[in-house]
Amino acid sequence: MAGEDIRAIDKKYNLHSWSAQKALNPIVIDRAEGIYFWDVDGNKYYDMSSQLVNMNVGHGNKKIIKAIQDQAEKLPFIGPAYAVDVRAELARKIIEEVVPQMGKVFFTNAGAEANENAIKIARMVTGKQKIFSGYRSYHGATYGASNLTGEPRRFVSEPGIAGFIKFFNPYIEREPVIKFESEEQYSEYCLAKLEEQIIWEGQDNIAALFLETVVGSNGVLIPPKGYLKGVRALCDKYGIMMVCDEVMAGWGRTGEWFAFMNWDIMPDMITFAKGVTCGYAPIGGVICTKEIAEHFEENVLFCGLTYSAHVLGCAACVAAIDVYKELDLINRSKKMGKVMASLMADLQAKHPSVGPCRNIGLFGMVEFVNKDNGPLVPYAKDPEGTMKKILGKLRENKFMTYSHENMVAVSPPLIITEEELKEAFAILDKVCTWVDENLL
Ligand SMILES: Cc1ncc(COP(=O)(O)O)c(C=O)c1O
Repeated sequence: MAGEDIRAIDKKYNLHSWSAQKALNPIVIDRAEGIYFWDVDGNKYYDMSSQLVNMNVGHGNKKIIKAIQDQAEKLPFIGPAYAVDVRAELARKIIEEVVPQMGKVFFTNAGAEANENAIKIARMVTGKQKIFSGYRSYHGATYGASNLTGEPRRFVSEPGIAGFIKFFNPYIEREPVIKFESEEQYSEYCLAKLEEQIIWEGQDNIAALFLETVVGSNGVLIPPKGYLKGVRALCDKYGIMMVCDEVMAGWGRTGEWFAFMNWDIMPDMITFAKGVTCGYAPIGGVICTKEIAEHFEENVLFCGLTYSAHVLGCAACVAAIDVYKELDLINRSKKMGKVMASLMADLQAKHPSVGPCRNIGLFGMVEFVNKDNGPLVPYAKDPEGTMKKILGKLRENKFMTYSHENMVAVSPPLIITEEELKEAFAILDKVCTWVDENLL
């Protein structure tokens, strides 16, 4: 079928996410390999967001594909109540090889469902109701997860579920009133405000506090020094379960298996998806402490999904974890993150339109700013379609990513080489010059 026909049929029958449909003009994809994909006209694109920050091992990994093929031949589906080799092996691998301090895993299909189930588990175990989460967050698009979400994608689900409370999580560059001298001082301030809010919401009523360990699509916001330890201490003080949403930040993205490992804390639950299979099959899940697992020895776990721990997904995960190890991708992310930090610093120094750039490992974000150093587009609005124009220019130059508010994500597959990263940044540099000259 010709590319134009595929696009026409796609536009006629598919509803695309998060978009008014009429103006969409999707690229028709033919194939993908490593950090690249090609359209049906043979154009080659750099995948600089690893699709939706999930394809950490890159495209076309033969080992994962083979594992799924073999599993499909052997047993493509069996209900979640049965024990199967690949299902048992995956849970064992996650606990024993990745987070030995934790107890058990409940598997879902994706990230939003992981958060849905973590909410239910926290309520079941604590017997409390209220759920805290940050304004600067995205936790998924199902009803409970979009109520957890703080950014504007939650608005269509409001008025939301009673008892879901939002707090301001740190973003030092845009703190409106006080300018802080150090990260530690800022953390102290944020933690004091959070504790005040916990008390005012009824300190005995709160089941869980969710946070993206590193806030992802809302800006790669890296927690300031002392913040996560402080949140952990508050959760301990008030008997609140600390849930780290590692759906985007997990699986090597930040240079550790899970992002919380950068700050020497242990959450009560970890929610994950994306990088666990690197997109080759859908799987997500909730990793719980031994104490939570113990609670459900005698109490019923009121959670369930037809496709919980789908065996094709399990096969993909088992293979993906081996690939992470064989290619040393966790260390590689850390190492290449240093190269990326220096490329980002160069961009910021050179371009008046480039504001704060942040990265941890290969998890990065570039902010575009106006002449006063404020965000290039106002919060939750882009009346001139400015960010679309920037994305369009990047697309024209074959640098594929997504934007959020005034920011552009830079989170390539963890297999990217230094040379490829520099080539991609040369494109970004060229587009930033265009922004300086045309949009400032
Ligand atoms: C931090 C975070 N949590 C949850 C989700 C939802 O995951 P999914 O789209 O797999 O449901 C996302 C998706 O981008 C995410 O970034």
